[in-house]
Amino acid sequence: MEEDGVRFLKESVGGTCRADHGLTLEELEAVFALVRAILPRDSVTRGHSLRVMDYALALARRVGLPRKMFPHLVFGSLLHDCGKGGVSDHILQKPGALTPDQMRLMGLHSERGHTITRCVGPLEVASLFIRQHHERWDGLGYPDGLSEEEIHLCSRIISIVDVFDALTSHRPYRKRMPVQAAMGVIRSGRGSRFDPDLTDLFLTLLREKMVSVREGGARLFRPWFTPSIVVAEADGPLRRGLTRTLSSPASQLSVVRSGEEVLTLLAAGPVEMILVGETLTDMSGAECLVMSREFAPHAVRLMLCPFNRLEALVAQREQAGIYRFVLVPWHEREFKELVEEALVWRQIYAAMRGG
Ligand SMILES: [Fe+2]
Repeated sequence: MEEDGVRFLKESVGGTCRADHGLTLEELEAVFALVRAILPRDSVTRGHSLRVMDYALALARRVGLPRKMFPHLVFGSLLHDCGKGGVSDHILQKPGALTPDQMRLMGLHSERGHTITRCVGPLEVASLFIRQHHERWDGLGYPDGLSEEEIHLCSRIISIVDVFDALTSHRPYRKRMPVQAAMGVIRSGRGSRFDPDLTDLFLTLLREKMVSVREGGARLFRPWFTPSIVVAEADGPLRRGLTRTLSSPASQLSVVRSGEEVLTLLAAGPVEMILVGETLTDMSGAECLVMSREFAPHAVRLMLCPFNRLEALVAQREQAGIYRFVLVPWHEREFKELVEEALVWRQIYAAMRGG
């Protein structure tokens, strides 16, 4: 059976990726398998990587970065710290300035990240950004001491937003800094640590609240992106349970009973996620999902599935474009995580299309 991420990827970007990104579907599949493996699931690093990507894309849009560079920026920002596995924690988490020796060891993480990624064809461009994300505008960064425009634009973007997110996030050794104070730190690095023009643009983005600053999780939706989730289930208690589990201020939830209602909602506006029960009042959940593909080809499709029905329902997976089954009874926290993760990936794919 095909791996979930791969299925989702085909569903989400299939067919159009070569034209949009210059990457083949096979290349994207390989890269996402790697990204999923490298990104830790519930750690500080994972949330940081996702937020850095989000800020980087917002800044890239403001700069007018060519569309074909977006996937490379996505990969580079998600994986910028992938070399940290090789640096010891007492250096990574040291509160004060690093000694020259520690600096050299620290510098290894960007080189190591470059080494890990450069051999993967589609990551070759991103591997350069990973190597350069600690270079400084004034030439005093590492590992190569490059300066100004010797440093790739994408590396300069990642460098600013990386520092900003680190400042505004809790760390084991210090509290998060308020946004205004972090903006002050970024401003003070203008022309020394950071590209002056990019610094101005990023500060403008923050002032205009064009990026949302959140800490402590992978909830990286931009203010104008409130994902819309449609849930359909005929059974009353199940429907109420789903409403309880999935209600969240970060998304817009519509709960209905019939396939007809689902299709009406899909026709009315964009929907990011569709979750159906096995039986709706007028059709089966699978039939509803098959029809939904026409109205919402890029939505994430989930289906509720009683434990003893998995074997039967899996056969419908391909046709209905089902990303994941949610086993009934569900585990509340795992269910929420699944939904959140699916929406995050949905966002990443949208971002890669320059959305
Ligand atoms: Fe780093």
